Amino acid sequence: MDGGQRRADAAAMWRALIARRGGGSRVLPEPADEGAAMLKALFAPLTDPPSAADGLLIFAHLAQSLDGRIATASGASRWISGEADLAHTHRLRALAHAVLVGAGTVRADDPRLTVRLVPGPNPARIVVDPERRLETGRTVFHDGEAPTWLICAEDRAEAPPPGRAELIPVRRGPDGIDLLALLRTLRARGITHLFIEGGGATVGRFLAAGLIDRLHVAVAPLLIGSGVPALRLPEIATPEDGLRFEVALHRLGEDVLFDCAISRRRPIWR
Ligand SMILES: NC(=O)c1ccc[n+]([C@@H]2O[C@H](COP(=O)([O-])OP(=O)(O)OC[C@H]3O[C@@H](n4cnc5c(N)ncnc54)[C@H](OP(=O)(O)O)[C@@H]3O)[C@@H](O)[C@H]2O)c1
Repeated sequence: MDGGQRRADAAAMWRALIARRGGGSRVLPEPADEGAAMLKALFAPLTDPPSAADGLLIFAHLAQSLDGRIATASGASRWISGEADLAHTHRLRALAHAVLVGAGTVRADDPRLTVRLVPGPNPARIVVDPERRLETGRTVFHDGEAPTWLICAEDRAEAPPPGRAELIPVRRGPDGIDLLALLRTLRARGITHLFIEGGGATVGRFLAAGLIDRLHVAVAPLLIGSGVPALRLPEIATPEDGLRFEVALHRLGEDVLFDCAISRRRPIWR
């Protein structure tokens, strides 16, 4: 098979995955080469119907250095992983109905959260900023490229939303925004496939609550030293209490992608 045929095969697989995301045919083509086979292996599980009782399939991605950092101490994270992982992240956005980030990510990166590096639709953008501490001028609130939902605590909903964003108040739980209440709100808005794009604190909250179906971690051959940790989880007593899961490894340029089938498990802390 020549280069042109390989590209066409991968493009056909990607179109079929996007159709699946939109509720079209669930049947995917038989991959004729490695590239299409990798797309199928990585993304078909993310376009399956949700099996959890809350009606959502939730996947997350982080790009970390070999020493477990997703940004330097000053918050700079561009770029830890390479171009292939960046395109991979855009594919994850395209397959989700909504992409969610914590306030720290919007503060540090001012991201657009749109799909630009691959063909595919933009997801709705969700920013979790319980106390409304973010500056109102952030790009995601104004560019109008896709709906933006600003999640805040119910007692912080008085001020009008910034730009074109819609304000969605959600009740507080014992430790920040109540994630189950948030998921119920998203499900009521028709979201069934949710992508948590970071940062580590936000992915950690979902993981600690047992709310991640699939976690993609791209590990880059880079040492950062001090910086923002990839995942923040409660302490456990012994490695036995940690989280184990099935994992598949894929090469993305210089980086190694861990595709972790978390299946809503969580570590045991006491
Ligand atoms: N390499 C990567 O893959 C990657 C991806 C994304 C981001 N980043 C980097 O990671 C850094 C930001 O990550 P981070 O872990 O520090 O922060 P983060 O996860 O982006 O945001 C954390 C903040 O979001 C709010 N939040 C989110 N969920 C909440 C909940 N359920 N309840 C209450 N508050 C909630 C809180 O805001 P308040 O404390 O203001 O209330 C919390 O402090 C940036 O430097 C960014 O560049 C890297």
